[in-house]
Amino acid sequence: MRAVTYDSYAGPESHELRDIPIPEPGEGQVRIRVTAAGLNPWDWHIYRGDPWLARVSFGLRSPGQRVVGADAAGEVDALGPGVEGLAVGDRVFGFLGFGGCADFAVAEASKIARTPAGATDEEAAAVPIAAVTALGGFADGGGCEGRSVLVIGASGGVGHLAVQIARVLGARRVVAVCSGANAAMVSLLGADRVIDYTRENVLDCGEVFDVVYDTVGTTRLTRLKRIIASDGVYLAAGGLGGGPLLGPAWAIFSAKAASPFARRRVVVVGTEPTTEHLSRVAAWIEEGCVRPVIAGAYPLERTAEAFARLEAQHVAGKLVVQVA
Ligand SMILES: NC(=O)c1ccc[n+]([C@@H]2O[C@H](COP(=O)([O-])OP(=O)(O)OC[C@H]3O[C@@H](n4cnc5c(N)ncnc54)[C@H](OP(=O)(O)O)[C@@H]3O)[C@@H](O)[C@H]2O)c1
Repeated sequence: MRAVTYDSYAGPESHELRDIPIPEPGEGQVRIRVTAAGLNPWDWHIYRGDPWLARVSFGLRSPGQRVVGADAAGEVDALGPGVEGLAVGDRVFGFLGFGGCADFAVAEASKIARTPAGATDEEAAAVPIAAVTALGGFADGGGCEGRSVLVIGASGGVGHLAVQIARVLGARRVVAVCSGANAAMVSLLGADRVIDYTRENVLDCGEVFDVVYDTVGTTRLTRLKRIIASDGVYLAAGGLGGGPLLGPAWAIFSAKAASPFARRRVVVVGTEPTTEHLSRVAAWIEEGCVRPVIAGAYPLERTAEAFARLEAQHVAGKLVVQVA
């Protein structure tokens, strides 16, 4: 089968489309005939081994996993021992961790769900990490019902779904921070107000929020606290930059460390997609209340180009790779 592979920690220019053996599903796993893969910062942090912290989990000297693509959608092609409730031919989507940019991939049955009716496989593949990171963060932070929510990084893969999920979860008001170029898209997704960070400092917005969901992490909590209610919560989901050792984890760790000084509750967002989470998001997609925005769809042969674009960190919505 075809697969986008790499042999050492490096950028997407080192990726190669190769023929490799079709994987076999193990206990509790299914094999998926992949039609689309969704791209996430998760992928590039791992294939680059950047930050170094990633290498502790994924291989100190060289990567243990060598096929890119954490999220995917397609059709169940084979069942491993012990899998119940799924059958060959079912349309599914979910989190694989690795291996999605290939004709076939193996997933834990507990991390996939049925593809929502009416959604394309590209849309489904765009959802798992991003939507569950948004949903899990809000859930851990005490929900959104009747609360005012600020989403920083609202045009990105996680942020554009966080805006919509905050609405679905009953937020009273949703304010979004992104660049002016993406403001119209974020308004259409349900934001009551959009702050263009290139022209306005969010600290001067004149509002105080119950929930601040931050995927960017460039404003210190000790400064942000003035726009977070004293009984509010700061959800630390990610960060730009952060250096070669910790990368995005730096912003998250520093927010957690600053929590007692800022006297604001900090929740570190780190949710792995499960069937239950994915099914919840799938139901919202079916009802039409959540819609992943596909900023670009690339054929498998052009996966490296798609990753180079993602690494620039200004994609409005999600990038996907069309495999089939
Ligand atoms: N905790 C977890 O479990 C988890 C899971 C998934 C992702 N993450 C992390 O969350 C972060 C976002 O992920 P993503 O998938 O949404 O990434 P993405 O799709 O690449 O989005 C990047 C976002 O950053 C914004 N941005 C870029 N430069 C900026 C700047 N100078 N100032 C303010 N905003 C800027 C972009 O907005 P504009 O284009 O409008 O400028 C865009 O909204 C990453 O750090 C990722 O590692 C964490």
